[in-house]
Amino acid sequence: MIIARGIGELKNALRSAGGSVGFAPTMGALHAGHLSLVERAKKENEFVVVSIFVNPAQFSAGEDFEKYPRKEEADIALCRAALVDLLFIPKTEEIYGEDEPAIRAPSIGGAIYEGKIRPLHFDGALTVVMKLFNLIKPQRAYFGKKDAQQLWLITKMAKSFFTDIEIIPCETTREISGLALSSRNAYLSESEKNEALKLSSSLLEASKLIKKNETRSLAIVQAIGEVLKPLTIDYIAIVDRDFKPIDTIKKGETIILIAARVGATRLIDNMWI
Ligand code: PAF
Repeated sequence: MIIARGIGELKNALRSAGGSVGFAPTMGALHAGHLSLVERAKKENEFVVVSIFVNPAQFSAGEDFEKYPRKEEADIALCRAALVDLLFIPKTEEIYGEDEPAIRAPSIGGAIYEGKIRPLHFDGALTVVMKLFNLIKPQRAYFGKKDAQQLWLITKMAKSFFTDIEIIPCETTREISGLALSSRNAYLSESEKNEALKLSSSLLEASKLIKKNETRSLAIVQAIGEVLKPLTIDYIAIVDRDFKPIDTIKKGETIILIAARVGATRLIDNMWI
């Protein structure tokens, strides 16, 4: 595995890539969810690139940029074991200059749900992903469905900017308990981890109701809200694949989004129906 820390090294290493390039961008603190992106990329491409970059631009003021978990040594070992071909670990100065142009998230799609609670988050996430796309020029890029709104916006961006990059959505990886894997789970104490299970349990409850032919969004939202109690709920939303709220759940067209706070930690989860 080649480790590139600078853009020159990255470009040199990319010259040795034969065939298609699959790319999994990450912010590190890698877990089985990230590794599932790598595994899929390995199956579908000849050369796999992973980036690790805790992108300051996607953290709003007062968020967890400083304390975001950084585990470079462990991440390198995991990437090596997963047979990643090229690991890009740039410094902030390599990625950002001063007073630069940037991508602006769509004014509606980027300002709802996560975007409402985390202003400028998607501007920052889209900008860094576009920079990484331009540096790495992959044929395919792999993103988790857990960050459903990010996945949707990146798919739109890849299309709007004529990148020709295929955006591949990957299933959410969960602990046996149901908890969706997230680097931010590291912030949870044991008791908070138990509380966090309310997110996946609430989605399970929703799926049971849907199996019993409940299609009213309102009824599902209420049922989810009951299970999430007493967590602080940021939103429970039932949307179509274009993130428009819908009153009636339709199979193959619906995503249930939830975001809640467990102590000081914000967690998101979702279910694609
Ligand atoms: O999902 C993430 O980890 C980040 O938002 C991403 C896509 C790596 C961009 O910084």
